[in-house]
Amino acid sequence: MAATGFAESGADLELDGIRKVFPGFTAIDELDLVIPAGSFFALLGPSGCGKTTTLRLVAGLEEPTQGRILIGGKDVTAVKPHKRPVNTVFQSYALFPHMSVLDNVAFGLKRRRVADALGRAHEALRLVELDHVASRRPAQLSGGQQQRVALARAVVNRPALLLLDEPLGALDLKLRRQMQLELKSIQGEVGLTFLHVTHDQEEAMTMADTVAVMNRGRIEQLGSPQELYELPRTGFVAAFLGQSNLLPATVVSNAGGIVTARTAGGVVAVPESRAVATSGEITVGVRPEKLTLSGTQPEPDASRNVLGPGRIVDASFTGASTQYIVEIPGIGAITVFEQNMVFGAVFSAGAEVWVSWRAEHGFGLDAAAKAEAATAEEGELDTPAAPAESGPDGEAA
Ligand SMILES: Nc1ncnc2c1ncn2[C@@H]1O[C@H](COP(=O)(O)OP(=O)(O)OP(=O)(O)O)[C@@H](O)[C@H]1O
Ligand SMILES: [Mg+2]
Repeated sequence: MAATGFAESGADLELDGIRKVFPGFTAIDELDLVIPAGSFFALLGPSGCGKTTTLRLVAGLEEPTQGRILIGGKDVTAVKPHKRPVNTVFQSYALFPHMSVLDNVAFGLKRRRVADALGRAHEALRLVELDHVASRRPAQLSGGQQQRVALARAVVNRPALLLLDEPLGALDLKLRRQMQLELKSIQGEVGLTFLHVTHDQEEAMTMADTVAVMNRGRIEQLGSPQELYELPRTGFVAAFLGQSNLLPATVVSNAGGIVTARTAGGVVAVPESRAVATSGEITVGVRPEKLTLSGTQPEPDASRNVLGPGRIVDASFTGASTQYIVEIPGIGAITVFEQNMVFGAVFSAGAEVWVSWRAEHGFGLDAAAKAEAATAEEGELDTPAAPAESGPDGEAA
C-alpha cells in the first residue's frame, strides 16, 4: 500500500528493541525509539556511533538482528525497502547527470505512473526555490543547489517518513546554515516526519524538535534541544553538546532540595532536581556562559557558588564573546565565556579572578561523568561498543 500512495501527513516511527550485529561488531546495542508523526527528529552522535546503520535499518537496507520497526503503527520489519513509505536523502545525492533537474525530480513519479508528474516536480522545485533552473543539467548547478534538487526529489514522493543522512554535509558553513532553516520550513510546510542524522550539534539543535544523542550504539539522552543543553544527564551529553566545566565533588549534605558538595576548590550547591546523583562521589557541571568573573572576591551568597581565586591563563577574543581559561588551584582549568558588552570588566592573562555562578544553573552528574566527557571530546569511536555475539542470530542478510 504504502509505496504507491502519497502520504498526506507524516507517520510515527517506532523502533522496538533493535539490535544490529555485524560480523564481529555490535553497531546497535539496544535501541528503543518513538518518533511521533510530523516531528523533526535529529539523531546526533560522533562518527561510528551507529547513525547511518539506524537509518539503513529504517529504510530496509539492513535487517535488524533483533527487534521490530513500525511505521504508522504497521510492522515493516520484513517489508522490502521499496515497499516502505520512506525516502532517503544520502550525503552523496547522486543525481542523474544526463537528465534535467526537472526530470531528476519527476523520475520516481513517472516510474510509478503518477498523474501530472511534471506538475508535481515543478511544485517540489518551487519549494526548494529552484524552479527557475528546472531545465538545467545537475552539472550546471552549484553543490548546494544539487543538494536542494536531491531534497526536492525525495520530498516530491511525499514519503510518510523522510530519512536524511547528513544531507548538508557537502555545503560550506554559510549555505549550510541557510539550508538548515529552509529544510525546517519545508518540513513545516509538508508536515511529514523527518529523521535527520548529523554529527553537527548546532545543526541538530537548530533544526529539530527532538534530539537524540547517540553514543556507541545506544541513545544516551533524548529531549528538546533546550532540555539536552540545559540539563544533560551524562558526561557524554554534557561534553558532546556544547562545552561543560565538570568538577569532581563529594556530597556533604542533601536537604531542602539542595545538594551541597565539596570540590577541591570549595563547597558548591546544586538543586536536587538538577542532579542525577545526590550522594557519595558526584560531578558538578556548569556551562561556560553561566559563569561570571570578578576581580575581587564576591560577597558570600547562598544562591551563588564561588570558586577562586584563580588566574587567567588565556583570554581569546572571539567577536561576540571572550573565552577565558582560568586556572584554579586544586580544580584545574575552567572555561568561561563572557559576552562582549560596552560596560563590564575585561581581564587579561595573568589577572587574579574569582569564578561564580547561580546555583540553579549547575547540574549534577554521576562520578563517571568526567571520563565519559573525555570520550565525547575525542570524537571518533573506533573501538567496539560491546563484543559481538556469534551465534545463530549473529548476522543479518
Ligand atoms: N557492514 C558492516 N560491517 C561491519 N561493521 C559495520 C558495517 N557497517 C557499519 N559498521 C560499523 O558500525 C559502526 C556504526 O557505523 P555507522 O555507519 O552507523 O556510523 P555513523 O554513526 O553513521 O558514523 P559517521 O558519522 O562516520 O557516518 C561503525 O563502527 C562501522 O564501522
Ligand atoms: Mg554515517
